[in-house]
Amino acid sequence: MVETIEDRRAPAAIDGGRRPVGTTKPVALREVSSAHANRLPVPIAEFDRVLGGGLVPGSLVLIGGDPGIGKSTLVLQTAAALARPETPVLYVSGEESAQQIKLRAERLGIDRDGLLVLPETDLDAMLGAADAAKPGLLIVDSIQTVADQDITSAAGSVSQVRECTARLIQWAKPRQVPVLVVGHVTKEGAIAGPRVLEHMVDAVLYLEGDRFHHYRILRAVKNRFGSTDEVGVFEMAEAGLREVRNPSEAFLEERTGAAAGSTVAVTMEGTRPILVEIQALTSTTAFGLPRRSANGLDTSRLQLLVAVLQKRVGLGLASQDVYANVVGGLKIAEPAVDLAVALTIASSLRERIVEPRTVAIGEIGLSGELRSVTQLERRIGEAKRLGFGRIVLPASRGQRFAGVADGVELVRAGTVGEAIEVALG
Ligand SMILES: Nc1ncnc2c1ncn2[C@@H]1O[C@H](COP(=O)(O)OP(=O)(O)OP(=O)(O)O)[C@@H](O)[C@H]1O
Ligand SMILES: [Mg+2]
Repeated sequence: MVETIEDRRAPAAIDGGRRPVGTTKPVALREVSSAHANRLPVPIAEFDRVLGGGLVPGSLVLIGGDPGIGKSTLVLQTAAALARPETPVLYVSGEESAQQIKLRAERLGIDRDGLLVLPETDLDAMLGAADAAKPGLLIVDSIQTVADQDITSAAGSVSQVRECTARLIQWAKPRQVPVLVVGHVTKEGAIAGPRVLEHMVDAVLYLEGDRFHHYRILRAVKNRFGSTDEVGVFEMAEAGLREVRNPSEAFLEERTGAAAGSTVAVTMEGTRPILVEIQALTSTTAFGLPRRSANGLDTSRLQLLVAVLQKRVGLGLASQDVYANVVGGLKIAEPAVDLAVALTIASSLRERIVEPRTVAIGEIGLSGELRSVTQLERRIGEAKRLGFGRIVLPASRGQRFAGVADGVELVRAGTVGEAIEVALG
């Protein structure tokens, strides 16, 4: 949306107008008290981890995600977890009435003292209410519904979203109250309204997953107070988002391992290894060009792997449609699952089972060579923990993984062709 001069009646006053010279002075950094100690821990561990260990006072955290993914559920559960009669949590919703929020709260089994709700879209009204309520946490759901009366354009427009966010930041900093703001994500993946919003706020978290699976991943794409490596894993249930402490077990729950076209891979979500099942199906192309379709994997990566399998291993995939899928709705971008994808495709094509206690780890290069991946020890450790006895991995790495791999058979392969021979026998 293009912002026009007519959009605003009053100019945005980020610092409340011009101040006399000499009223502001620097402070010695070593005398600034550490904010770390005052972080507000969120009793939802999977959320807390993504925040980097609690909410920082006065910070503004944006939570984005596709429609219906569970943003309101997450913030309402957070509100309930933090609400205390002496430090209430104020949940402002511009999208739902108090009754609708109550309905959700009842479904989630929430009944807390100190949880205040306010259906409101006017920014000044909500800030006024927040000043009166003195909450320990302010939640605004969603930024696209909030409007500053001084701006003529409609709620959700670029200027409204930007100005309202700026004013929420201004409100939060001096009061040292953390603010959680929900934002809608557009199809392109940007938080609707200006991209600039992501620069303004302290942290941007995305709740991901697809609507047809119950797993949800909370991921930080920006965090001024913590790593963006950590993810939180949740499961959407009738009673709301449930923390998944053991994602590998959850993702492999329904696996039988008894059919061709299935291999277990280990993917890293930040510093956390997660075991996932990769499935593939090859079937004779009915007409025209063969299809390569990926779900949870990058389609162009799948095309590349199919090309390598054709050219370097000689698999007859030229007249085969190839479908590949990550079970559970997880989206994997890292090439460390290449080998598992390749083995799965070969398994389906040859109708041979990959031995069910096998895990495959490795990136595949264009000449069919297997390349080492990062955090191999962690991956091996997780596979072992879950009872996998055999790991197919690149030969390039000579190290012995002191102790981690005890009791696990490590099968080293130099090329994808070799790996297929050992895995499919
Ligand atoms: N009775 C129910 N049982 C199980 N899951 C439910 C139930 N009702 C709602 N849900 C889940 O909650 C999701 C909606 O959650 P929520 O309203 O928190 O999402 P949201 O991201 O805030 O959506 P919006 O973009 O519309 O604001 C639904 O997509 C569904 O997965
Ligand atoms: Mg919502």
